[in-house]
Amino acid sequence: MSSEHEYATEKRRSFEAAGARVAPGDGRAGRQVDLLQTASLRLGDKAPDFTQDSTQGPIHLYEWMGDSWAVLFSHPADFTPVCTTELGMVARLKQEFDKRNVKVIGLSVDPLFRHDMWAGDIAETQGVELNFPLLADADRKVAQLYDMIHPNAHATETVRSVFIIDPKKTVRLIHTYPASTGRNFDEVLRVIDSLQLTDDHKVATPANWKAGDDVVILPSIRKQEADKLFPKGYRELKPYFRMTPQPNIEPAGQEPPRE
Ligand code: BEZ
Repeated sequence: MSSEHEYATEKRRSFEAAGARVAPGDGRAGRQVDLLQTASLRLGDKAPDFTQDSTQGPIHLYEWMGDSWAVLFSHPADFTPVCTTELGMVARLKQEFDKRNVKVIGLSVDPLFRHDMWAGDIAETQGVELNFPLLADADRKVAQLYDMIHPNAHATETVRSVFIIDPKKTVRLIHTYPASTGRNFDEVLRVIDSLQLTDDHKVATPANWKAGDDVVILPSIRKQEADKLFPKGYRELKPYFRMTPQPNIEPAGQEPPRE
């Protein structure tokens, strides 16, 4: 039996096991199906824990995260061009994720042997080794927990979902992109910068903000407290709208001397 045939059989079996009322023909048709047992996650929810196989061995999410942040992201399928570029990009950004204490984990509903075969193509075409785990979610356990299959977009494949999960295991960002649009992982890093900053300081980050830009003082902070909390000063554009330099960095030219 060819591995492609085995793969198609496995895909159909796991689709049925996952509780779909209508099994797909070739697994790629964009039919409308009604998946049972899907969960809907919202910001602030506890990230569902799971144990699943990956290219780095079985992963128990909470244990694997430890005290780190996590980015869990799905892609539609192995051996597809956009996904190949996405995984290459995430691998290239590993140092950026490490700097922010973030562990990254990818997912598709392909089995492990497909991930392992595809990893060679990623290294060859993207010039970087896969340096983070890819979940082999052939039984759709994680895809269902995180509502990553949107049947009206595609019957069986995961959409491009991203979940940012904080060290308390709370879901802090959810975004969903269509299969035809590769994601901008600089945006994922930007949101992590914003979340980590605003968890520690009474500020929010304005449109198109990037690390180092001025930030907004929370409107709930009264003047007396703002004067104390923001010694670098602030500009009041409106009583509810005050801008201040990013609190945890010194303005250029005023950095403290290095030890
Ligand atoms: C891709 O990753 O290239 C892709 C996947 C599914 C549909 C279209 C493109």
